[in-house]
Amino acid sequence: MGIAVTPLSQRFGAEIADVDIARPLDEATKAEIRAAQDTWGVTVWRDTGLDDAGHVAFSRLFGHVELAPRHPGKPSRMSEPELFDASNLGLDGEITDNPSIRLGAAGNRLWHSDSSFMDVRSAQALLLCHEAPPHGGPTWFADSRSAYDDLPQAMKERIEGLEARHSYFWSRRRAGYPYTEAEVDAKPHATHRLVHTHASGRKALFVGAHTRDIVGMDRDEGRALIDELIEWCTRPEYVISVHYRPGDMAVWDNLATLHRGGEYDDTQYRRDMRRTTVRAPGADAAPDHYTAMFAAAGDTPFSPSDAMKERVLVKA
Ligand SMILES: [Fe+2]
Repeated sequence: MGIAVTPLSQRFGAEIADVDIARPLDEATKAEIRAAQDTWGVTVWRDTGLDDAGHVAFSRLFGHVELAPRHPGKPSRMSEPELFDASNLGLDGEITDNPSIRLGAAGNRLWHSDSSFMDVRSAQALLLCHEAPPHGGPTWFADSRSAYDDLPQAMKERIEGLEARHSYFWSRRRAGYPYTEAEVDAKPHATHRLVHTHASGRKALFVGAHTRDIVGMDRDEGRALIDELIEWCTRPEYVISVHYRPGDMAVWDNLATLHRGGEYDDTQYRRDMRRTTVRAPGADAAPDHYTAMFAAAGDTPFSPSDAMKERVLVKA
């Protein structure tokens, strides 16, 4: 029996049913799931019944599951090393009031592609809901393939072959974290083409909140172009939202979509979301490349220096 695919919009996003992904899957079903993911960019799975181990196991269907970054002085709440904690909870399981963490998390509400600041990118992300706030807290997704398809020809010609520099610390600065431009300059960047060809054969824009500059272009001119492309890509006709109840999961193709976290009152309501990421195929990188990147970066929102803690507190 095949899986049931219900599109969420004409070209983008689909809800999948009639398959129990908490149980082992046969090869034909796995192939169907991968094909649906490639076609629709975002798939939504309701009431999965997945626990932490099942979440990681299902993620392996798409390729190599990455280890989540670890930060000095910040032990993880997660039971599996592959799980990234996308909650608003501290190690004690209570809503965190750490201003540094909260300010860092605000960056996730800007349109972005996960980990675009890494040389080796993430191809898929699987976000499973354990606890949802009573109001709000969706994820918004934008279709960067259809957005590219619909660009005016003159813009396609202008951006073809251009490369952009991406930095995690740039997106945190944009979200209000008090890095100076010079401090971001000194931190790691990754360079990627602004337009790339997705595994489906379709071209996609690769741009978002981590995108800082266009290589070889005046900084202001580059940023105006980046902002213009993000704005184009996130027009209502390219956007869907996914709302969650516990057990629901969204899987997005990180190289064919942008996403952002939806607003909710994160000082009042618990939102426990856990994410795995699958590395782009064929790419070679250290098993723990996030941890290595953040260690090389020094002062981060996850492990701020004492001087940075002072600045965050003053700013918050
Ligand atoms: Fe994200």
